[in-house]
Amino acid sequence: MNQRKDLWWVEWLAMAIALTVLLIYASWTTFNGQNYIAGPYRSPFYPFDFGIFGLSPALLVFWIPVAFRLTCYYWRQVYYRSYFLDPQGCAVKEFRKGYNGETKFPFILQNLHRYFVYLAMILLILHWKETFNSFYYDDKIGIGVGSVILLLDSVFITIYVFSCHFLRHLVGGGLQQFSCSSCNKLRYKAWQGISALNLRHALWAWISLITIIVADIYVRLLAKGIIVDINTWR
Ligand code: FES
Repeated sequence: MNQRKDLWWVEWLAMAIALTVLLIYASWTTFNGQNYIAGPYRSPFYPFDFGIFGLSPALLVFWIPVAFRLTCYYWRQVYYRSYFLDPQGCAVKEFRKGYNGETKFPFILQNLHRYFVYLAMILLILHWKETFNSFYYDDKIGIGVGSVILLLDSVFITIYVFSCHFLRHLVGGGLQQFSCSSCNKLRYKAWQGISALNLRHALWAWISLITIIVADIYVRLLAKGIIVDINTWR
């Protein structure tokens, strides 16, 4: 019996719809290997130009953010509830009888998240490289709306990655006490910083997913000549 009388399902239905729309767009742009550069701006989905066998360059790297987000503790909660209805919600009757948690294939693969964090950091470096490049065009330093959009995207993706639950454990886990030990002071500070970001991990997860798609749409619209960038290079 469902003991909840509130609209507990609205949040998860809204998330399922939003996530589906964003994923459809992300898949489309990954396979559409055109119009991803406009002036000093490059879509964050395309950190480089070389594809293989004529395929879109984004296909070479897209599996990293996909695997990273798919195994993220927060996104797991979202798609387990929104797509699998498992669990549907607190104090809501479950459909399934047995429960193996994430101890059996394929869900045991969620443990790979710790490795995808490192790969995501490599992508983050490429991300920032393109953001810095967006402030340089025609042999001149400048700024445009596109530079600001790409900068915001890099900032939010960085916050999302550095608010990771695994990273928080990596930095501060496995210790009985570290706040009073001088050799662990740095570690303690890092743990405090990550913990502060970690409190809003869900928020950063959504914002960073939205900003990367906004950045891609902006670059594509510019490349197609549908909009004009306001910048200091004109
Ligand atoms: Fe979400 Fe690591 S737990 S990114």
